[in-house]
Amino acid sequence: MSNQLQNGGKSIACRTNRPLNNMGGKKTFAMNPIETLKRPDLLREQCFVGGRWVKGDKAVDVEDKATGERIGSVPFFGTEETKQAIDQAHQALPAWKAKTPVQRSALLRKWFDLMTANAGDLAKLTTAESGKPLKEAEGEAAYAAAYIEWFAEEAKRIYGDVIPNANPDQRIVVIKQGVGVCAAITPWNFPLAMITRKAGPALAAGCTIVIKPATETPLSALALAALAEEAGFPPGTVNVLTGDEVAIGKELTGNPGVRKVSFTGSTPVGKLIVKQSADTLKKVTMELGGNAPFIVFADADVDKAVQGAIAAKYRNAGQTCICTNRFLIHSQLFDEFTDKFSKQVARLKVGSGFEPGVDIGPLISQEAVDKTRSFIADATEKGAEVTVGGRPHSLGHLFFEPTVITKATPKMRFFQEEIFGPVSPLYSFEDDSEAVELANSTPYGLASYFYGRDIGRIWRVAEALDFGLVGVNTGLISNVMAPFGGMKESGYGREGSKYGLDDYMTIKYICLAGIES
Ligand code: SIN
Repeated sequence: MSNQLQNGGKSIACRTNRPLNNMGGKKTFAMNPIETLKRPDLLREQCFVGGRWVKGDKAVDVEDKATGERIGSVPFFGTEETKQAIDQAHQALPAWKAKTPVQRSALLRKWFDLMTANAGDLAKLTTAESGKPLKEAEGEAAYAAAYIEWFAEEAKRIYGDVIPNANPDQRIVVIKQGVGVCAAITPWNFPLAMITRKAGPALAAGCTIVIKPATETPLSALALAALAEEAGFPPGTVNVLTGDEVAIGKELTGNPGVRKVSFTGSTPVGKLIVKQSADTLKKVTMELGGNAPFIVFADADVDKAVQGAIAAKYRNAGQTCICTNRFLIHSQLFDEFTDKFSKQVARLKVGSGFEPGVDIGPLISQEAVDKTRSFIADATEKGAEVTVGGRPHSLGHLFFEPTVITKATPKMRFFQEEIFGPVSPLYSFEDDSEAVELANSTPYGLASYFYGRDIGRIWRVAEALDFGLVGVNTGLISNVMAPFGGMKESGYGREGSKYGLDDYMTIKYICLAGIES
């Protein structure tokens, strides 16, 4: 471990603090919610490498997205520290691999228990640094823990095969083994769950892991590391490193000691990570962008479709890879759907995620606000109408009005690009084949949704959609038991479910000869 890792450092990104009870002139809450953590020691400002908490010479501030208030700072590490973290993960690998699946499962279970016991604090950290409403962050804390529980169970079910042999002197045996040191590069929109969805299967398979959380949301990751330490994972098994995204990413993808990279994030960054990982032929899992269609067929239950549409679009203020990007509504019920949906969108409460009853928190950054505005400007220039919202919210800072746009056409940018903001474009269609064709006309293939009752159509459409996830008569499809992953430029590999372990394992064939002698 270098001195740099051990020395205290100073912040490189100080910002002016704004009083927490003064958000755009409106009173929200009197006390900094981070000060109400039951376990203040879960707010860590050091990285976890080789079983030690380490500081750097430089640090970067983490801010509460609703207020701009600084809530902590974390080390700004780079190439050298990444090499050291990989080295620590390497040193820990033989002993971790040698543990029985039952022993690995027991530690994962302990981690799950600690996450569950501290879910309230994890949720508060997540709300503060990501901006999502506390009720959603609480849901995410449970969702994140459930991945660890799931893979604690799956660790015990890593089965091989005995294959019928052609030669009487031989037996063919197949075993599955962990790939080695893994790297996880995770996003800000699910600061807890995207880590556990990767760390759970990696650890269950007998791999060690270096985790690089998003710069915007490192505190949730470090709290998870503190709980992993408490659970008793051996030093170097789980490592969390914050800092320079480019330098850390380059080392994690280029270092021959890393055998697998799992990334959740945008498609352009995913392509870069695949290219950088190619020289050392790492196994990669890419969970990338989406452009989810939400189709409402003529026989759909409109009220239920509206409910599902709100859930599929406005979760995390539209900032999930599986959020609806395009609503395709049959012309017969276009007016009814638009009217009912618009009324519900107009009622969504915008505010700090810590305020009771808030549905839509701040967006993650000014860049996200600008991008959202640019989609709306592009659409209105091309003839769309904004029927609800359409502007930055009067609360200021990073808040944006939930928006509905009608008269959308495939010429508008959001038909091809991922919005990642609280904007719903509504298109009208006439028949099933047109709806499926429109839905599939995108380079992405992650999530899709549709509402309808005819069972024949349900099968036909579910099979025809070129998406890895299809929600039929529901807008909520995330589930640890189900395989999560995309097609086309949404990436490859599957996370969660019984398939989620495969991405962290390699298949070994053992030819056992000399049976007859
Ligand atoms: C994502 O947006 O990448 C994950 C969404 C989920 O797991 O529900």
